[in-house]
Amino acid sequence: MTDTVTGTPQPAAPRPFGLLAELTYRCPLACAYCSNPIELARYDDELDTAEWQRVFTEAADLGVLQCHLSGGEPLLRRDLPELVRTANELGMYTNLVTSAIGLSRSRAAGLRDAGLDHVQVSVQADEPATSDRIAGIRSFERKVAACRLVRELGWPLTVNVVLHRQNIDRVAAILDLVEELQADRVELANTQYYGWAWKNRTALLPSREQLDRAEEVVTAARERLRGRMEVVHVLPDYYSRYPKPCMGGWAERQLTVAPDGDALPCPAAQTLPLPRASVREASLAAIWTEHPLFTAYRGDSWMQDPCRTCDRKDLDLGGCRCQAFQLTGDAAATDPVCHLSPAHDLVEAAVETANRPGPVDVELVPRLRHL
Ligand code: SF4
Ligand code: FES
Repeated sequence: MTDTVTGTPQPAAPRPFGLLAELTYRCPLACAYCSNPIELARYDDELDTAEWQRVFTEAADLGVLQCHLSGGEPLLRRDLPELVRTANELGMYTNLVTSAIGLSRSRAAGLRDAGLDHVQVSVQADEPATSDRIAGIRSFERKVAACRLVRELGWPLTVNVVLHRQNIDRVAAILDLVEELQADRVELANTQYYGWAWKNRTALLPSREQLDRAEEVVTAARERLRGRMEVVHVLPDYYSRYPKPCMGGWAERQLTVAPDGDALPCPAAQTLPLPRASVREASLAAIWTEHPLFTAYRGDSWMQDPCRTCDRKDLDLGGCRCQAFQLTGDAAATDPVCHLSPAHDLVEAAVETANRPGPVDVELVPRLRHL
């Protein structure tokens, strides 16, 4: 196989480990940090049940072990239990990534019977006023009730909290809530600036002082909760010296299928100027191994300086392609988060703005409510 950018020989495609099945972009919430695409209506022609079942079968044949059923809100798909059952019968570990709106007792029982393995519920804050303002609708009480139901039904529970300028000061209370809900795991993930979050970046990027305070709280909580609850803390890469190895490498370990059947190396890859790959037009195996969208940034032959000659290139893989494109207009550029990037001043400017004195609760642009 050859690299489509440089024409140089490439090693055989690795096996994907995880599939992010974005079943629908419809969602009752309107979170301003949402990373879904801005043009939500473009994805209304959703794959039907049989098409998703074929995708799952092809994913399992490719070696996928984990199937994350996500969205939007996957509970809006009436066929969710059927899809869970199929993934389960194919031997994949199934994880429902949900706002929990719509997780009634009967719905939950159906999913349990279908073999769902794990539930991940998003919570926006520790109390109704902040949580509902960020979610765009009254939802806090229903989320808390759904978390209790998940535990009652014996599922492992992960609570996911996207952290940003408007809730990060509440992290101690958020951890208290998650502990009280008896979650097995909490993911405190600082916002990634794609989709709607990109529109709201100024209102969401925390200050250095906020981050430092939060880190102290999280470190103490991790110690206190050791053995009872796993505490995952994803720091905002705008404050890092080096970028993250996004997705564990382009088309190395993960793939995403969007509601309309677009196959993507990462959830934001539809923003890049690359040919579209659809599971309606080709098998997942053909897309994964040879489609130009998937081979474009696999390996390292596409890299430019400074990454090309950098001794960290195997560690961070040059960072995030989508962020590089978003900030510089060149998807093969060094991620500007890296302090060695010639475009690092773009990240520094955003950080400088975030550290000017000012209110933390400025108005957010809500994600379009799309049902
Ligand atoms: Fe990573 Fe590239 Fe920065 Fe080196 S120059 S640290 S490879 S992003
Ligand atoms: Fe697309 Fe990082 S989000 S490569």
